[in-house]
Amino acid sequence: MNETTGFITTLAATLICLGGAVMTGRAAKRRAHLTWVSGAVLFLATTIHFAGELGKLYELEAAGWIYPFHLLLAQVTSVAYLVVIVSGVATLKKAGRRKTHGRIAYSVLGLTVITAITGVWMILKAPLL
Ligand code: HEM
Repeated sequence: MNETTGFITTLAATLICLGGAVMTGRAAKRRAHLTWVSGAVLFLATTIHFAGELGKLYELEAAGWIYPFHLLLAQVTSVAYLVVIVSGVATLKKAGRRKTHGRIAYSVLGLTVITAITGVWMILKAPLL
């Protein structure tokens, strides 16, 4: 699988799993929720790997300020996923934390969308090597 196909396929799989995680979380289907979440985390890690490979084909520095901005956002979003996992485990221990976990999860989903948009923007501004 080449970099572009790998990136698009795993990104689509990540989005499907995130959708499944939100639907099952809202429906309080815990076992299914954890399965979708595991899929999302695994596919997200694979997407990040392919994104790195894809980036090697472009002269990213030439994209300007969007390059360091996207990298910073990507790092913040990765750490934010750890916060979702911690708040999810906290919700398993005490159901009253569900609302907080939901808020954190939606914020991280928003960050993910912004990170994806800035990543596409960066690639569009960078010339191929
Ligand atoms: C990609 C990561 C995740 C997303 C997008 C996500 C999303 C959500 C959402 C939207 C809800 C419903 C909140 C509400 O309606 O107020 C929820 C509930 C829940 N989530 Fe997550 N979650 C994620 C990760 C996790 C993890 C890692 C765990 C545990 C290890 C977890 C455990 C739970 C539990 C226990 C509930 C409550 C279910 C119930 O009421 O029985 N979540 N999640």
